[in-house]
This record gives sequence, structure tokens and C-alpha cells, in this order.
Amino acid sequence: MKQEPIKRIVLGITGGIAAYKAAELLRLLMKQGVEVQVAMTEAACHFITPTTMQALSGKPVLTTQWDNTANGMAHISLSRSADAIVIAPATADFIAKLAHGLADDLLSSMCLARLCPLLVAPAMNREMWQNAATRRNIAQLLADGVRVLGPDCGVQACGEEGMGRMREAEDLARDVLALLRNAPLSPTPLPASGARELNNVKILITAGPTYEAIDAVRGITNRSSGKMGYAIAQAALEQGAEVTLVSGPTALAKPQGAQGVDVTSAAQMFEAVKQRADDCDIFIGVAAVADYRVAQPSEQKIKKSAAPLTLELVPNPDILAYVAALPDPPFCVGFAAESENLAKYAEQKRCVKNVPLLVGNLAQQAIGSDENELVLFDDSGSHVLPRADKLTLARLLMQHIKQRYEGASQ
Ligand code: C5P
Repeated sequence: MKQEPIKRIVLGITGGIAAYKAAELLRLLMKQGVEVQVAMTEAACHFITPTTMQALSGKPVLTTQWDNTANGMAHISLSRSADAIVIAPATADFIAKLAHGLADDLLSSMCLARLCPLLVAPAMNREMWQNAATRRNIAQLLADGVRVLGPDCGVQACGEEGMGRMREAEDLARDVLALLRNAPLSPTPLPASGARELNNVKILITAGPTYEAIDAVRGITNRSSGKMGYAIAQAALEQGAEVTLVSGPTALAKPQGAQGVDVTSAAQMFEAVKQRADDCDIFIGVAAVADYRVAQPSEQKIKKSAAPLTLELVPNPDILAYVAALPDPPFCVGFAAESENLAKYAEQKRCVKNVPLLVGNLAQQAIGSDENELVLFDDSGSHVLPRADKLTLARLLMQHIKQRYEGASQ
């Protein structure tokens, strides 16, 4: 009996030398039962022939929008029936087209008309990858919810070495299959400019939960994993910042290069921040600080009895509000994890804590997860960073923080 294909994708190939790797990607996806329709740009046909891709996929390859077999509507019909469109390789030129919504050939029209997720695997020379225009275009694609796979670092077809090699077919296949199964993908390295843009900028970050003791062995804490705060520390380090990471109890290793300060309770976190807040340029409060602590924790383990036990809780100091109220405060960024009414509560929090930028996320999506979705609230309104792994989001967030920080310090 013929096995039903689990998913359908369109594999778009654009004109780069890495087009030869698309043949292997096609083979790997088909091996996993994915049905693949190949579409190639005119330039792609100079690097690998449609005949090769037709022989491997068992289907005619689409190369032109002027073919009338689908009544000239292939761009609509194909993108409607696909579970995803994957562009591998995606040239700098094609990425620019996607970022601007151009649709002057079949493949770009399909991308614009699609209702399904779009994944792109960039492949280009390292200078093209680092160019400010490509950086803008990639940030735009990520902000539009496009998943960017790679590129990798290594030797390039031109003989130069650096970022811009297309990911290997096995890695791409893994990410495509993960997307089809709704699992997390690998992080996207954002193109960096030659200059490390936060050189000499001191950033103080709080991360993770706090633990408020009830007695010698029990305590009150929350389910924060610390992953978002640690990813932000990593993204800040990549930009050349001097990072101090004040962390509540987590199971994570500190990013290399960060100065780590381990704390347990909110009071300890407050002390650690107070000592360092005057000497930082940017403060990012990512920690899920406990709102209350036990008024009188017992030094000894409280013995169990049949009687009800009442604990008196007293409010903890608000660390972020304290830093934001300093006479010469650093640029302050707060986080808000809400379970409902995200926009309303986040805006309220931004005003009450008096911070220029507040990052909202839904607690159900964020806590403990490897992926998240963020909404940034600042004076210019709100800005969504669509669902992605936390490191990709942290890199986009750092770009936003950098722009706002530079604007504020001018
Ligand atoms: O008020 P709420 O806890 O929702 O605010 C969240 C933001 O405030 C986060 O940035 C968190 O790190 C910070 N915060 C803090 N000290 C507290 C409570 C929250 O710094 N006691």
C-alpha cells in the first residue's frame, strides 16, 4: 500500500553556487516522506538544471510564471496546498525582494501569496551577508515571521572565509522537519557589522527566578528557567558589550565572557543590582522576581502538624523601579510576563515603572520554553517579534535596545 506523504513543501531554489546542495536537501526530505514541489528562478537554472531536480522529485519543476497549465495561477494554487515554502539557497538579491514584497517571478509571487510558513537558507559572500542592506533585510524578514536558517561560517566558493555559507543539507532538513512537526528550530545568527556595536557599553542583566525561603528546606519560587535572560546576555556579548549577569537559581551555564553573580532571594538580587546599577549604561530586568517573601522565615525545618499553617508574606522591593528612579538612571528595559491582556498590562507596567522600553510576553508561551514571542512597547508604540527560538529573539531585541539606547543618549 502506498504510504501517504506526511507533508507537502515547495522547495524554491535561487541563483547561487550552493544550489547544488538543494538536490541533497530534496533527497533527505523525500526520504522522510515529505512531498516536494521544486520551483526555480531563472538564475538558479544556470547553477543546477531543472532536469536534475525533476528526476529527483519525480515532478515537473516550475521555472516560469508564464506557463498556462495552472491557468496562470500556479503562484496561488501551489502556495495554498503547501505546508511550508523553503528557499534554499536564498541569495542576497532574493532576500531583498522578500523583504520588500517584490513579486516579479513565479517564486517571489508564491512567497507573497502564501498562507504557510516561509523558511529561507541564506547563501552569499561574507561581505554581502554583513552589508548594512542585508542586515536590514534579514531583520525585516525575522520581524515578518520568516524563519531564517543559517548561514554557517566557513570557506566560501569565492575562496574567502566567513559567514555566508549555506547550511549543510542535513542541518536544513532537520530544521524543515522540526518546523513541520512544530518543534523549535536552530537560532538565527544575525549579520553583524564589522564594528562590534556595543563595544564599551556596560549592561547589567537580571535573570531567572528568585527563591524565598519559608524554612531551612522549603521556599517559594516560580517556573522561570532563566533561558531568556541568558540568551540576552549572549546577544549583548556578541555585540561587544561588557555584561554582568545577576542570576537567581537556574540550571544554565553562564555565557562565556559574562561576569556572573549568583543570588538566591529577591533581597540578594536587589543588593547585587544596587551595588552595580550606578556603573552600567543599560539595565535589563528579565528576572522573574518574587513579588513577596516570607516575613519571618524559620531557621529550622517547620514540623508538620494537623493545624493549618499561615505564612505572612511581605512585598519585595521592585528592583527595576528602583534602578529607573536613580538620579542618573541607565537605559532601563523591563519584562512583563502576563497570562492575559498583554498589551494593556504591559503598557501600564511601562508607565508605573517609568522605563522607556518594556518587553511583553505571554507566560504560557514563555516560561521554561525554548521558543517565545515578544511584543516591545516603547514611545513609538508596539512592535511584535514573532515566534522564534530565544537566542534569535534576544539578538533582535538587542538591536532594538541598541537603537533606542543610542537615540536616548544623543
Ligand atoms: O511587576 P512585574 O513583576 O510584573 O514586573 C516585571 C518586571 O519588573 C521585570 O522586568 C522584572 O525583572 C522586574 N521586577 C523587579 N523587581 C521586582 C519585581 C519585578 O525588578 N520585585
